[in-house]
Amino acid sequence: MSDFVYINGDFVPAEQATVPIFDHGHLYGDGVFEGVRVYNGRIFRLIEHTKRLLFSARALGFNLGSLTESYVNDAIVETCKRNNHQNGYIRVNLTRGTGLGLDPKHIDTNPRLVIATKQLALYPEEMYLNGLSMITCATRVPSPDAIDPRIKCTGKYINNIMAKMEANRVGAGEGIMLNQQGYVAEATGDNVFVIRDGVIVTPPPSSGCLKGITRQAAMDLATDLGFTVREETLSVYDIYTADECFLTGTAAEVIPAVVLDERLIGSGKPGPITNRVIDAFRAHVKVSGLVID
Ligand SMILES: Cc1ncc(COP(=O)(O)O)c(C=O)c1O
Repeated sequence: MSDFVYINGDFVPAEQATVPIFDHGHLYGDGVFEGVRVYNGRIFRLIEHTKRLLFSARALGFNLGSLTESYVNDAIVETCKRNNHQNGYIRVNLTRGTGLGLDPKHIDTNPRLVIATKQLALYPEEMYLNGLSMITCATRVPSPDAIDPRIKCTGKYINNIMAKMEANRVGAGEGIMLNQQGYVAEATGDNVFVIRDGVIVTPPPSSGCLKGITRQAAMDLATDLGFTVREETLSVYDIYTADECFLTGTAAEVIPAVVLDERLIGSGKPGPITNRVIDAFRAHVKVSGLVID
C-alpha cells in the first residue's frame, strides 16, 4: 500500500503528490520546515516541533490564517494514522503561498502545508558504537543578524548542503560549521556538545545554531542524570581538546563524534558520559511523546 502525503487537507498517494511550480518555497526557498521522529507509535516532542514551525513562519511573516498549533498537530497525527507510521521520520513543510515574483504582496499567500512520512536511518549502528569523524567546513553559517538561526527555513539550508558536500568529499561523517566570528555554530544537520572534566557544554543559539529539540532533550536528560550542562561559546580548540563530543538531531539522534580534522577527541572512542546520554535518550524516546491512537 502506498503512503499518503498530506497537502493542505487532502491525502494524496505519495507517487502522485505534487506542488505547483510557482509555490514560493519551490521558487525562492520561501518556506519553513520540521523533521520529526516517531518511536513506538509515539510522536517525539510534537508540541515543540509544531511551535518551532509556527514561530519560524511568524518570524517570516507568513499569513497563517487557520493554521493554529492544534490544527497542525492534528494534521501530523492524522498523516501518521493514515500511513500506519509507528516508527520513522515525518517531514512537515510549510511554504508562504503560490505565485511568481518575490513580492508577497503579489502572490496568493494561502500557505501550503505538506506532511510526508518516511523510514530513515541516517547512520549505521556501528557509527553509534564507534563514533563518527568530522571536519571543520569552510562554509560558514549565515550571520545571526542576517537571518536568526532559530528560524528553520528551507532557503537557509543551501549553506548546510555545501558544508555537507565538503564533509562528503573527505569521507567525514559530519562537518562542523563556524559562525562569522570563527566560533563553533553547529554541524550541518545537528547540534554539537563537548564534555570536559565531566561538564557538558554546547553553544548558545546566538553562536548561530538551531535551537535543536533533540539538543534540549539531551540537556534535560543529562541534567536528570546529575551532570552540569552549560551553554558557552566554543571554538574548534574546545572540540580538539575535549574529553568527549557528541551531536544531536532528529535524524541523527544522539551520536558520538570521535575525530575532528584528524585530531582524536579524547581517547578517540565514544566516552562514558556520551554513552550514558545515548542510553538515556534511547530509553526516553520509547516511552515519551504523543501516542498516535
Ligand atoms: C542545522 C541543524 N542544526 C541542528 C539540528 C537539530 O535540531 P533538532 O534536534 O530539532 O532536529 C538540525 C535538524 O533539524 C539542523 O538541521
